[in-house]
Amino acid sequence: MKENLESVMHEQRSFVPPQEFRDAATLTADKLQAMQCAATDDLAAFWADLARKNLEWKQPFIQALDDSNPPFFKWFADGRLNACYNALDRHLEGNGGKTALIFETDEGEILYFSFRALHGEVCRLANALKALEVRKGDRVVIYLPMGPQALISMLACARIGAIHSVVFGGFSADSLKDRIRDAGARLVITADAAPRGGRVTMLKETVDLALAAGCESVKKVIVYRRTGVKTEWIEGRDITWDDSLNGQSSDCEPEWVESEHPLFLLYTSGSTGKPKGVQHSTAGYLLGAMTSMQWVFDLKPNDIFWCTADVGWITGHSYVCYGPLLNGLTQVLFEGVPTYPDAHRFWRMIEEHRVSIFYTAPTAIRALMRLGDALPRKHDLSSLRLLGTVGEPINPEAWTWYHRVIGGSRCPIVDTWWQTETGAAMIAPIPGVVATKPGSCTFPLPGIAVDIIDEQGEPVTSPNQGGFLVVTKPWPAMVRTIWGDDARFRKTYFGQFGDRVYVTGDGAHRDEDGYVWILGRIDDVLNVSGHRLGTAEIESALAAHPRVAEAGVVGRPHEIKGEAVLAFVVVKGDRNQAIRDGLAAELREWVGTQIGAIAKPDEIRLVDGLPKTRSGKIMRRLLRTIGRGEAITQDTSTLENAAILGQLTAPAAPGSAP
Ligand code: WTA
Repeated sequence: MKENLESVMHEQRSFVPPQEFRDAATLTADKLQAMQCAATDDLAAFWADLARKNLEWKQPFIQALDDSNPPFFKWFADGRLNACYNALDRHLEGNGGKTALIFETDEGEILYFSFRALHGEVCRLANALKALEVRKGDRVVIYLPMGPQALISMLACARIGAIHSVVFGGFSADSLKDRIRDAGARLVITADAAPRGGRVTMLKETVDLALAAGCESVKKVIVYRRTGVKTEWIEGRDITWDDSLNGQSSDCEPEWVESEHPLFLLYTSGSTGKPKGVQHSTAGYLLGAMTSMQWVFDLKPNDIFWCTADVGWITGHSYVCYGPLLNGLTQVLFEGVPTYPDAHRFWRMIEEHRVSIFYTAPTAIRALMRLGDALPRKHDLSSLRLLGTVGEPINPEAWTWYHRVIGGSRCPIVDTWWQTETGAAMIAPIPGVVATKPGSCTFPLPGIAVDIIDEQGEPVTSPNQGGFLVVTKPWPAMVRTIWGDDARFRKTYFGQFGDRVYVTGDGAHRDEDGYVWILGRIDDVLNVSGHRLGTAEIESALAAHPRVAEAGVVGRPHEIKGEAVLAFVVVKGDRNQAIRDGLAAELREWVGTQIGAIAKPDEIRLVDGLPKTRSGKIMRRLLRTIGRGEAITQDTSTLENAAILGQLTAPAAPGSAP
């Protein structure tokens, strides 16, 4: 925690929202204060009022919050509604012709979808799913490229009350299989292949592999032909997207579900090896996605919004799929990567589509910043009025570059802190009101009760003192449980400070002005390019290799990715032979196939033993120190085998990636 603290603590600058922005802002200081007072007075009533105003109900709720059985909180539980109806149908009258999606493919083709067109496609797929016997409560795994079909699939599930679980297209067959099995999915929606950055990932092939490993629950696979590449075909199980939609009506009565009906599962890494199926509700989640967007992005009806996240992550759920559609916004949807066909791509797209709000990850900003100012300066970025970041702490250098070069010093930056489990942004500036400081996500949003506490559960009082970031009151968009594992849910998030205090797993501190600064994870979770990776998950993937006896994985700072993965691997048999065989390189690929390319270690050190205490615990703190190349100040006297320290600090074995 200390190391991270250093990097941000010295930031003193503050950026007041420009006058022009303030004048046009929907949320003013007075309004914000009134909201905060209302939330403090009666939290449940505050959210209930917003739920009535923002969502359309088939059956209005009476009870706002049921907190009789913590940590299992229920919001608006006696109401009924439909997520898809709220995202699409309600815009049809009056705004049906409005562009919902401006989709740009990897190759640069541009396709437009109005709310009406999207609605028609969603209804057809919803009817197709029903014809394939998908019912309310059934799980559907979506393993698709970033694009309209992903959104259409999510919404079609929501329309019939099926629970979607999107798996990022970069995950391996093994990871996909684990998720399909844990969710007990009945159907998988995939594509033949996903073009990305000029390369093609074979999605259907991966699905076939996953299903061949035993996923009995899956009865059907819908395959969208994205590229037309030939794939295996299992008659009776596989059906093309087009065939399934063929003859289906573009009307489909929504399934009106209870507020607490699960809208989706999204698997995320924790500190143990097994990914958790984070379960979100319908009404509470929708309310969080919708209102946080209005507040944090100061939405105007004519905004062109662009969030660059993939729908395989929570940001793609809340701020690509649900948030923008609920708010009736026009948004850009992008299949590709920032550097293909060249590093002008983002800036050219902002110029071409007249994007007004741009929301991306610090890792992308750092990567593009490295390429210099000349690229963005070639483009007219004057349509931008607001910028956002999410996923990891942003270093002040990247922040100021983003502000100056991309935002032309006129756009406020909203640094939004939240998690898969929180469903929606939690700590973020209201852009027309709050002066921002580079690297701070500023203050909690209205209705969100955040605190920083010490190990005894006492709020830290002195400025700049680090502690556990916790949420002390329930909020509508919060995770409801871990799919099929209430006990793990309770233990993971509420185990430490009681049934009412949600533990985020992040460390944080407040400065003299009360601004919140996130220090990063305090558990064994890494944040690589804004993606959460559990060290235990990578360790167990490594240990599954026949030549590996044991592995210890830690993170170390990386200029662009935030954190890089460093693995210390104890091999079976002769270490020198393993080095000669290029085992390190083989293990990198191995992790790629076990989990997915994002989890490949940046460096693997082959060693004869890991530093352990006499009671046999791996000394991870020591590994971290070694990984950072810092001098060892820890007490190593309890080390069982002090002789291996030399090997651990030795330069990379041949075959490791740089
Ligand atoms: C980190 C992504 C600093 C944090 C929405 C959190 C951040 C984890 C920020 C959740 C931010 C996210 N500043 N750190 N603005 N946003 N994080 O579940 O460690 O993929 O716990 O959700 O990312 O990652 P997740």
